[in-house]
Amino acid sequence: MRLEDCGLMDKKPGAIGVFDSGYGGLTILSEIRKQLPAYDFIYLGDNARAPYGSRSFDIVYQFTLEAVRYLFSRGCHLVILACNTASAKALRTIQQNDLPHIDPSRRVLGVIRPTVESVGALTRTGHIGVLGTPGTIQSESYPIEISKMYPYFVTVGQACPMWVPLVEYKEADGDGADFFVRKYVEALFGRDPQIDTVILGCTHYPLLYPKIARYMPEGVRIVTQGEIVAESLADYLRRHPEMEQKCSRGGSCEFLTTESSDKFSSMASVFLAEDITAKHVVL
Ligand code: DGL
Repeated sequence: MRLEDCGLMDKKPGAIGVFDSGYGGLTILSEIRKQLPAYDFIYLGDNARAPYGSRSFDIVYQFTLEAVRYLFSRGCHLVILACNTASAKALRTIQQNDLPHIDPSRRVLGVIRPTVESVGALTRTGHIGVLGTPGTIQSESYPIEISKMYPYFVTVGQACPMWVPLVEYKEADGDGADFFVRKYVEALFGRDPQIDTVILGCTHYPLLYPKIARYMPEGVRIVTQGEIVAESLADYLRRHPEMEQKCSRGGSCEFLTTESSDKFSSMASVFLAEDITAKHVVL
């Protein structure tokens, strides 16, 4: 695709792009919109190809890059990867290898760095647990980022492969979910009982929060990402007025999905406290 064909030469202010493999990023988007209601947003869920959590590095990178390019073509200057798996497997390569060729003035930010920054003020033992998809845990992105910022912290990751399907099949509140929530929480603490801070490193997991909290040992802090990412974005826009000026302010939010628009619109209400109408797009 040539730059001018996909709108990459467009320098007009545009919406902030928010990308996820599917629905999970809506938990991040709703917090971002609470903190930054004046801006325009385009949410893109690659539902037709989700879940990303069990996919290889190359595939997650390729799919994420396609989504980022699409959002750029829709006029976004700034794109948030509201997906831990995409942030873990694709963000760095896109930032370092792709953006300089596509358009060095555009920016792509992820959810892992801001989450990691928040744990230093929360832990007393320095033992951090991370619950995430198999892809996020295998990537070691959380231990790598945590050790850069806090070299003496111990990070233990636990993959929770059943949690995304439980949420997607609307079973997050069902009795069956208790079995798998308990299983992975116990596995995490079985490996390190000194953990006092646990990151929910997947944007689907806030929907399982009540059950996760029920099976956590007492006194353990559970870190969800929505507010943290929203605060970090607000801070980023304050520190980067040149980017802030490129983010249009009309208070709108457009929802796009690679799956059926009806399916997305009805499922989105599970994640958002509002009814929305999505549009189908092809990446
Ligand atoms: N939303 C993704 C994340 O935060 C998980 C969903 C998926 O596996 O596609 O990692």
